[in-house]
Amino acid sequence: MAGYRDPAVPTAERVADLLGRMTLPEKVGQLLQLDAQGDLDDLVTIRTVGSLLHIPPDRTAHAIELAAATRLGIPLLLADDCIHGHSFWPGATIFPTQLAMACSWNPDNARRAARVTAIEATSTGFKWTFSPVLCIARDLRWGRVDETFGEDPFLIGEFASAMVAGYQGEGLGDPTAMLATAKHFAGYSETQGGRDASEADISRRKLRSWFTPPFERVAREGCRTFMIGYQSMDGVPITVNRWLLNDVLKEEWGFSGVLVTDWDNVGRMVWEQQVCADHAEAAARAMNAGNDMVMTTPGFYDGAQEAIRRGILDEATVDAAVARVLALKFDLGLFEDPGGPDPARQAAVIGSAAHRQTNLEVARESLVLLANDGTLPLTAASGTIAVIGPNADDRGAQLGDWAGGSGQCSWLGPDYQPGDVVTVLAGLRDAASAHGWRVTHATGCGIATLAPDPAGDSFPDGQPRPPLITPVPADQALLAEAVAAAEAADVVVLVLGDNVLLNGEARSTATLELQGGQVELWTRVAALGKPLVVVLVNGKPLVLPRGPLAATSALVEAFNPGAMGGQAIAELLFGDSEPVGRLPISFPVHVGQLPVYYNQLRGQHGNRYADLTQEPLFAFGEGLSYGRVEYGTPVLETALVRPTEAVRARVRVTNTGVRPVAETVQWYLRDLVTSLTWADKELKGASRVRLAPGESAEVAFELPVAACTITDAAGERIVEPGDFELLAGRSSRDRDLRAARFTLVVS
Ligand code: NOJ
Repeated sequence: MAGYRDPAVPTAERVADLLGRMTLPEKVGQLLQLDAQGDLDDLVTIRTVGSLLHIPPDRTAHAIELAAATRLGIPLLLADDCIHGHSFWPGATIFPTQLAMACSWNPDNARRAARVTAIEATSTGFKWTFSPVLCIARDLRWGRVDETFGEDPFLIGEFASAMVAGYQGEGLGDPTAMLATAKHFAGYSETQGGRDASEADISRRKLRSWFTPPFERVAREGCRTFMIGYQSMDGVPITVNRWLLNDVLKEEWGFSGVLVTDWDNVGRMVWEQQVCADHAEAAARAMNAGNDMVMTTPGFYDGAQEAIRRGILDEATVDAAVARVLALKFDLGLFEDPGGPDPARQAAVIGSAAHRQTNLEVARESLVLLANDGTLPLTAASGTIAVIGPNADDRGAQLGDWAGGSGQCSWLGPDYQPGDVVTVLAGLRDAASAHGWRVTHATGCGIATLAPDPAGDSFPDGQPRPPLITPVPADQALLAEAVAAAEAADVVVLVLGDNVLLNGEARSTATLELQGGQVELWTRVAALGKPLVVVLVNGKPLVLPRGPLAATSALVEAFNPGAMGGQAIAELLFGDSEPVGRLPISFPVHVGQLPVYYNQLRGQHGNRYADLTQEPLFAFGEGLSYGRVEYGTPVLETALVRPTEAVRARVRVTNTGVRPVAETVQWYLRDLVTSLTWADKELKGASRVRLAPGESAEVAFELPVAACTITDAAGERIVEPGDFELLAGRSSRDRDLRAARFTLVVS
């Protein structure tokens, strides 16, 4: 058996042996990841690509066979965006989006969702998912807010760590393990004007303070792949940012996995950013900066070989990258078992009852009750519920982006309708009779639709150019039908929001208002004066119309709650489950307030606009229970701490309501004097406590002093002596927090 084929040989030796047998074209091929919707013979047999993405289900087995038949039989790494479930596999379990999952403030939900996804996706041949997203969502106009865990680096780190662990399982030798990808490294979300992939105005200190910490955490914990973003910083495309990709990620954090570019990053340096004259130059610069694998730049194949001929790229640099790709393949056991589709396993696991149950449990915790005058839960009365609104029965809107027909994969067209989604309407219909209610339904209005882009059907690189998105004008007949249904009902459940046309790559929005006829619908229904429950199914925080909101009895934010979302919402409305969600992101009153995230820097003149407050409508951490929890003042074990010690505190929480609650106790730190400007407060921990009516408990918290850092001018994390406040409470708002002061002494 050839050395590299012998599983008894250690990975490093297998890699060296195989590398020694490879020609330059074979090596460059291993560094390419191309779209499997192209000609497989060309991709696998001729160009010997290392990886394929977006492979249609009926081509997987053939691609694996073609790879096995190549000269060295190097197996393929099959990859896809299994972001919140095995996105494009009919019947797969589609979970709430990352943003929705983050509302639970329970990272174990992300771990469980990722584990299910890995089990389902590996049964179909995929070994690599481009998930999770660790970007910070600060500009809500950006189209990819739904893909993030929200606005706080600590919470993002908690969820990302759990999700990576869920995907990668017990280790890569496990047949259900899937490579996780931390993306988009780093600063991609700091867009200008919310515009996707624009220049990010971001200093190294700012990066180190908030943007890189979640990435550092998962790199050190063993996340095996990273993906770069699209943006430039200080004029340097992220693709050639050697400091970040090589010096920080690989050398400082010891990342030994594979760093993949995003879609055509290398080509875009030629045709879009225009910083390289041709693909040879772009290939050389990308490899020299530390990238290992190049996604969907076919010109890289000839470009990298030409770069070596020109002497601007060393073959040794190529060898090092190929070695990292091969090491992953050996560690995944692909040379022993290339991991093709397994129909028996698929039948057992894809969309299984157990996975749907996990999905339901995750969805339940993803819902945030933002307002309630006592109308919810619907326990006391019975009668007719009018379920109204464009998202009451829209499966696509409920699943959100990167699922079903959201458009990234050609084999599920835009009209694809996933079959096993419990919409809000279906969930309420199923549950209503058991609770003595009858359900009626009207759509009321549309949201947005597609129109051809006058600039043409494709971009210069041949990729399809998406059509233009336009709001659907209010239709008076639909509105009248919905208002009549509301008028005839005892309670109205109005399901509003946005849909996948208004979220996603290159789908940033200039406004955050409800589109189409939704504001008119809400206004007219609110004017009826009936008990009105508004449920929002949307990709990101929206700006809500003040008048109708004030006339609304209860508001539930569901974001994109996944396939079981309708059942989870029905349970919440009828009081079969308790609301536990808390916002991982702040809601502005007006789009002009952006950015409105809670952990802003101190030091501006004044704290409001001349014409508007700076306060968010709903703040990071907010969310109601059906009960009411009172907080005591946190009590510190000692008010003097030293750098090697920990701050220890307890806070008493009491359920003063008549329903059980699951309260998320949030702990923030305020460093009272810092040598450089710093966030006024930062989340440092959270834990959930369940309390029966009247029950009281003491919740303990411990924070190592080493975590009480700021970032200095050189980008180093430092702890400065002096006075701090440890804050405990139900949200990030000052009025919801109680403080205890401690002093950090160095001698
Ligand atoms: C581009 C997106 O930015 C990235 O998140 C995704 O993983 C790749 N396309 C592959 O679909």
